Amino acid sequence: MPSHLPYIAISAFDIIALAAVIGSVAAGLWIIPEGARECFHRPLWRLTGASLGVLTASSLLLLVGRTLEMSRQPLHDLGHWLPLVVHETSFGHIWMVRPMMLIVAWVAWLMSRRPSHHRAAYGVFLATAVIAFTRSATGHPADQGQWTAPEWVDWVHLIFASIWAGGLFATTVAIFPSLPQAPLAPTIRRALVERLSFVAAVALAAILVTGILSAYHYLGGFAPLFHSAYGHILLVKLGLVAIAVALGATNRFVFVPQIRAASDKQKAIPGATDKTGAQALSRLRRSVTIETVFLTAVLIAAAALLHGMPPRERNSAMGGTMARATQPMGRLEAARFESRETSRLAPALSTIRYGVLHRSMPGTDNALALAVPFGQMSL
Ligand code: HEM
Repeated sequence: MPSHLPYIAISAFDIIALAAVIGSVAAGLWIIPEGARECFHRPLWRLTGASLGVLTASSLLLLVGRTLEMSRQPLHDLGHWLPLVVHETSFGHIWMVRPMMLIVAWVAWLMSRRPSHHRAAYGVFLATAVIAFTRSATGHPADQGQWTAPEWVDWVHLIFASIWAGGLFATTVAIFPSLPQAPLAPTIRRALVERLSFVAAVALAAILVTGILSAYHYLGGFAPLFHSAYGHILLVKLGLVAIAVALGATNRFVFVPQIRAASDKQKAIPGATDKTGAQALSRLRRSVTIETVFLTAVLIAAAALLHGMPPRERNSAMGGTMARATQPMGRLEAARFESRETSRLAPALSTIRYGVLHRSMPGTDNALALAVPFGQMSL
């Protein structure tokens, strides 16, 4: 078993938790039409709370996972390395934003308990958007420094991926089960599925643009897509995305128009039975559930990508163990990279880089010399 598999699992857990929070908030704010708020506010609010609980757990797990990944020390030494990682590494400094944002999110969630206060959920959305940025700021996008274009592109990608995947998840879990029996006018039901389809389409457009930009950035060309482990994972991800897009297109161009036609018919002939509409709704529900499963697989594939070595980074790295130094803000950073031969998927540069201890070492410009003080961390 490749040793980075547990870390991929932790990243996947964190991404899925984030998507569940952002998606359930997005469903409450942008998918539910006003006339349906009373019916669905409570289940969505509960789902947001449960997802926030999972995100709180995944945030802690992420810190533990990164500490173990960076220190390469056994779990029982965690007490020694964890404070060091929090206080002395870039990853730790950025991670510290999470607990603060989680508190903001929990407070906003409590405030949004009543349907009339649903707008307080914007607070949850903003806090989790900042948490999403901490992901971008500690992954591959940060390899060229903070506040760079790749970071923003990745952040937008992550937010819209969460809205699409998480929004469909929230709809599947908290809205569809009670939608057929809900005391709603056909026009409200129709508005709900139209909004769902619209939000998914907007999110997909943003995801495609930012995903292609990132892919071009990390691959550095077309050929590495077929000739690198990173490219192969991306191909698997694209295959899964293609299936989800096909399902989404079926919903938008087949089932939603059927529901719209049934609603028009009911408006024209009040009291007419709505058998076609009910059938279309049940097909839509099944299709959205399958789409959610594929999108969850996309999120897992994305987590695997994050732990791979992007071909462009690989080309610029020297073979074997290496060190390099940069001097952001007058501080010296050094990183030693694992031998590329040790695994097909070498740990990402950023994984290592953001775990590196920061020390002021004026006058030192020999990167390899820096490896000595950090040698204990076995980076
Ligand atoms: C054209 C389609 C897509 C392409 C080309 C693409 C490409 C990429 C690339 C290159 C990355 C950066 C990985 C790294 O840092 O090494 C990424 C990250 C990611 N992608 Fe996509 N992607 C696409 C669609 C999607 C979809 C549909 C979803 C989910 C709904 C998704 C979810 C994610 C997530 C969650 C990340 C991780 C962001 C982070 O944690 O920083 N992607 N994607």
